[in-house]
Amino acid sequence: MAEATISPDTQAPARRVRALTGIQPSGELHLGNYLGAVRNWVTMCHSHEMFTCIVDYHALTSPLEPERLAGQTFEMALAILAAGFDPQEGTLFVQSQIPEVAELTWIFVTLTPMGELERMTQFKDKASRQTSVLAGLFIYPVLQAADILIYQAQAVPVGEDQVQHVELTREIARKFNLAFGETFPEPEAVVPALGGRIRGLDGKAKMSKSLGNTISLLEPPTQAWEKLRTAVTDPARLRRSDPGDPSKCNIFTLHQNFSPQATTQMIDSECRRAGIGCVDCKKLLFTHMDAELAPMRERAAKLRAQPQQVREILEHGAQHARQVARATMAEVREKVGFYRP
Ligand code: ADP
Ligand code: TRP
Repeated sequence: MAEATISPDTQAPARRVRALTGIQPSGELHLGNYLGAVRNWVTMCHSHEMFTCIVDYHALTSPLEPERLAGQTFEMALAILAAGFDPQEGTLFVQSQIPEVAELTWIFVTLTPMGELERMTQFKDKASRQTSVLAGLFIYPVLQAADILIYQAQAVPVGEDQVQHVELTREIARKFNLAFGETFPEPEAVVPALGGRIRGLDGKAKMSKSLGNTISLLEPPTQAWEKLRTAVTDPARLRRSDPGDPSKCNIFTLHQNFSPQATTQMIDSECRRAGIGCVDCKKLLFTHMDAELAPMRERAAKLRAQPQQVREILEHGAQHARQVARATMAEVREKVGFYRP
């Protein structure tokens, strides 16, 4: 759990800034999730009071099989822990274990203009691929705002695609505070400078579970290499002798995220003069990438052998999250003016 840190100015104990993030329990954790979000959660465990929530209420907005939901939730928890999330320092929990968040969502829904929700890029994108759009998908960002605000979080570490939802959260906080008195902070998104939007193996679209263009964080290395070997690079570089443009190459972005600066600089200049070919460039990337991923696979194997440990971490996380959520809801209920027997 988060400890108080000592503020250098006053020597008085200062609370760490609280951060909250969420991820759906759908399928695997991929390199885009890791570089855009999870890597920050791992480091922010030590600098912030970090809450990470596996958002199974959100998952209901996509088709799912009830008999698989609990298993996928467990797998996501295991992957986050394997990626290095420290449960001694941060709080890892499952959204539906704290149903108070659904109550806050309802209160927020009554304050949120439909027009704001209609503007949400992720809603427009997902709705355009469906023939019958359900209200749950429409109010999904309000549930996200409730996730963040019920825990009074000030920082929200996410990839670039979630920034719009965090902006909406700020607006909902402002509206609530205006209507009922100062209650919520206005949180800020924390997006990594280089990993905020990782493209998929196709080199074009965002790496995403739904597009099938991913490398999974816990994938066996031979399989991961096979995917990387055939991944699209600078599309204009057709032959080994053609100079490439690293700024147009997704592999270069991955180098910037995984390789030491000296390697990245060497690749940048060698690629531009056709001094290095794409396969050699990828081999170098794979070495650095796998150095970071191999310990994760080991941790995952250990956790898989002790599933009780993962369950205990989630239980402990839920207990802590529940305390915070209940305190917020007591204040909200009073401010909204609900009847109290
Ligand atoms: P997906 O798009 O694969 O379904 P999620 O929506 O579950 O991924 O995203 C979980 C977290 O990972 C979010 O914070 C999101 O912003 C981040 N994220 C997802 N895909 C990428 C990507 N390609 N690049 C950077 N961050 C990403
Ligand atoms: N909407 C986020 C996504 O699709 C997941 C999410 C739910 C979330 N609640 C959150 C992210 C709260 C940050 C904070 O990835």
